[in-house]
Amino acid sequence: MTASRRPLIAGNWKMNGKTADGVALASGVAEKMKAAGDVSFDLLVCPPFTLVSRVGDAIKGSGVMLGGQDCHTAPSGAHTGDTSAEMLADLGCGCEIVGHSERRTNHKESDELVLAKAEAAHANGLVAIICIGETESQRDAGKTLDVNGSQVAGSVPAGSTAKNTVVAYEPVWAIGTGRTPTNDEVQEVHAFIRAELVKKVGADEAGAMRILYGGSMKPGNAKELIALEDVDGGLIGGASLKADDFWAIAQASV
Ligand code: 13P
Repeated sequence: MTASRRPLIAGNWKMNGKTADGVALASGVAEKMKAAGDVSFDLLVCPPFTLVSRVGDAIKGSGVMLGGQDCHTAPSGAHTGDTSAEMLADLGCGCEIVGHSERRTNHKESDELVLAKAEAAHANGLVAIICIGETESQRDAGKTLDVNGSQVAGSVPAGSTAKNTVVAYEPVWAIGTGRTPTNDEVQEVHAFIRAELVKKVGADEAGAMRILYGGSMKPGNAKELIALEDVDGGLIGGASLKADDFWAIAQASV
């Protein structure tokens, strides 16, 4: 964390939540935000598509931001089951996750496709949260920096800015496992990602761009992770499903 970059605490609900519990969770987060008044961080919830509209209503006026978890590259058309960035913007989303490792793995999403999705987000005024990260076998083979470097090169659109883009480093082996890299390892990868971003978007934008850590971030480890120089917040899965835990992580950035 560095004073010049405002922390972003983002909750990725993944495929979790039906109407009642999703609205209750969103309302719980919104109440804490309202009670806190002025805060020094940005807070974002990314519910599943089915709940975007209802969650948007529940957080209205609280300062909590709304985001999607994925989008199609086209604005509209014959794409059964897909949702466009334009549709997300229409529902009040300001951000959108693209290239999450679960989509890269389960839906065979390539860097090229992720880049096109980020461009679709940008074209619709959305902040693209572009996810990258190595698998356990890539890490064991000593390829962590290579993999993250090539994902930055391939997934981040040229001309991205600190205003319209956030990068989330999520080591695949740390997602949902309770395991995390050491603080030194996290800082090393984040600093490397920022250096790679310099090549892509220039020093000014790369210096201002937020790089989030994701993968088993919890109330118990958030403070030390977010305190690292090049960690500008978190992309949180499991712990974002409890308002108290999510809020405790946000407080760890203060
Ligand atoms: P967990 O916080 O459950 O490890 O998930 C991280 C993640 O994938 C967020 O996008």
